[in-house]
Amino acid sequence: MLKRAVLLVGILLVVTAGAKPVVVGGTVASTTEAPWAIALNNTQSVSSSGRYCGAALVAPDKIVTAAHCMDEAVSTYYAVQGRANLEDDSVGQVSAISKAWVHPGYNTKDHRYDVAVLTLATPFVGVPVLPLETRARSDRRGAVPTVYGWGDTQGTGPDETLQKAAVPDLGDKACLAVKSYVSNGYAAATNVCAGYLAGGTDACQGDSGGPLVLNGRLLGVVSWGQGCAQPGKPGVYTEIAGAAKALLQQVRTAQQVR
Ligand code: ARG
Repeated sequence: MLKRAVLLVGILLVVTAGAKPVVVGGTVASTTEAPWAIALNNTQSVSSSGRYCGAALVAPDKIVTAAHCMDEAVSTYYAVQGRANLEDDSVGQVSAISKAWVHPGYNTKDHRYDVAVLTLATPFVGVPVLPLETRARSDRRGAVPTVYGWGDTQGTGPDETLQKAAVPDLGDKACLAVKSYVSNGYAAATNVCAGYLAGGTDACQGDSGGPLVLNGRLLGVVSWGQGCAQPGKPGVYTEIAGAAKALLQQVRTAQQVR
């Protein structure tokens, strides 16, 4: 089933589980270098592999994804760790989702706080986790974070396979200079603007919820963009630091409950 939320000016916010996979203009990544990269699959996916969204392991029993990924019943989701090729179910581990917390500030009008914290029914014990980047100043022009995901490559890479791409932080001004991005709700305090103004490399459909990593920390979550890898239309990420308090609370709660 294909679900879409077409925003103003034809901005595609959600196109889940397309026929092709993820990051455009990236390279293949291994699950050894990105053990905390989680495929948030769904039984309702149009892809036979279940490909749906991305996520990041931030505690043994906790993953962070995008709020807009949580549009199906919680019972239909499952997290997959350690599987670079989603069609190869001989490797990796799988967990059901026992609880979903969607940021209360998320709304489909301005797309702010597009972040959710899910609790794994079966914790991925012993897997390196990605700490949250809680410092707002880490989102600064010139930094070069890397985005990971199994989403659409638009023909630039193999399907259903974990890809990564370095996407320079362009600074909030770059996205605030794009009219359609302002009307779509881009906000300096809660978003990261990253990619290439020339186009060519970007996250894409199916990467949503996946990690934007800087210096070993989760800087952002793949949220939206106008098309993928289009000139002048960078990727928009949920800024973790912009929701740090609530996120830390969720992550710690889950850890204590265990
Ligand atoms: N909303 C998309 C998804 O559900 C992710 C879009 C990211 N787009 C971009 N151009 N960076 O997978």
